[in-house]
Amino acid sequence: MDSGSEIQVKQQVRQFYDQVGWQEVGEGVYQNARFEDLRPVSREYIHNCHQRVGRHLSLEGKYFLDAGSGPIQYPEYLEYSNGYQARVCADISIVALQEARQRIGDRENGGHGLFVVADVANLPFADQAFDGVVSLHTIHHLPSNEHQQAYLGLFRVLAESRSAVVVNGWENSSISDIFVGPIKWGRRTRKRITRRLGKSSRVSAAPKNNAVSTFVNKHNASWLKSEVGTLVNLDILVWRSVGVRFLKAYIHPNFGGKWLLRQLYWLEERFPHYMGEHGLYPLIILKKV
Ligand SMILES: C[S@@+](CC[C@H](N)C(=O)[O-])C[C@H]1O[C@@H](n2cnc3c(N)ncnc32)[C@H](O)[C@@H]1O
Repeated sequence: MDSGSEIQVKQQVRQFYDQVGWQEVGEGVYQNARFEDLRPVSREYIHNCHQRVGRHLSLEGKYFLDAGSGPIQYPEYLEYSNGYQARVCADISIVALQEARQRIGDRENGGHGLFVVADVANLPFADQAFDGVVSLHTIHHLPSNEHQQAYLGLFRVLAESRSAVVVNGWENSSISDIFVGPIKWGRRTRKRITRRLGKSSRVSAAPKNNAVSTFVNKHNASWLKSEVGTLVNLDILVWRSVGVRFLKAYIHPNFGGKWLLRQLYWLEERFPHYMGEHGLYPLIILKKV
């Protein structure tokens, strides 16, 4: 990708988040939350997965960096920086930062947020400036050839003996494939039936997914280990092994959904490395020793 196309990709991503992703579609709920399962049956599991990030961060410090902060959309996210003097929210979307400011506040109104329009692949901060760093679901919006420099940049701004946590989806997941295969097959079959029965049938009345999205580019665990793990100290654990498609298809409140998710969470806790590499969303820890 030449540098012109990289700039175009970033402009498109910024425009998407400014105009679509960070528009509220309900009270405190953004359009972007369609990538999340907000149903009560999944709440405990999702909450516990969010809590995993905090386990690897120092509880206190001076500056905390949230690279690609968005509006700090979930309450658990706010907790990561509670013990810090300031949380620096960096994002290419102005709307994201305006919303983040509403949530966390700034020094003038008793909050601890600082807000910077910045590119996660070219962080404008000094080496070792941060005692805690997170970057959640953001690096995948970069052109492929900038992923490595983004990871190295997060590592560069991290202080000695501290850790950064990165969460990003893998491009594929053997665990997810087992379950998502039947969903795709079901969809294809439904479409075929719809075509045969014609548009006026009841089946064709199934809701269409008109979801709008933006540029995404993902890697896998071997890419991360060879391109980043050979240069900095990293560990791959599990953040969440399944995605929203799995949750919505298999987890139902009336059919033991909550119980099933507790078993899944137990498995993830028991085998965090395996579930991290083979599940859908790894939790990547960069450690500066
Ligand atoms: C999927 S959202 C995730 C937001 C938040 N971290 C979360 O987990 O809810 C991705 C965010 O990354 C921001 N972003 C995308 N590309 C970026 C870049 N090159 N530099 C900084 N932020 C970027 C977007 O504007 C958006 O706010």
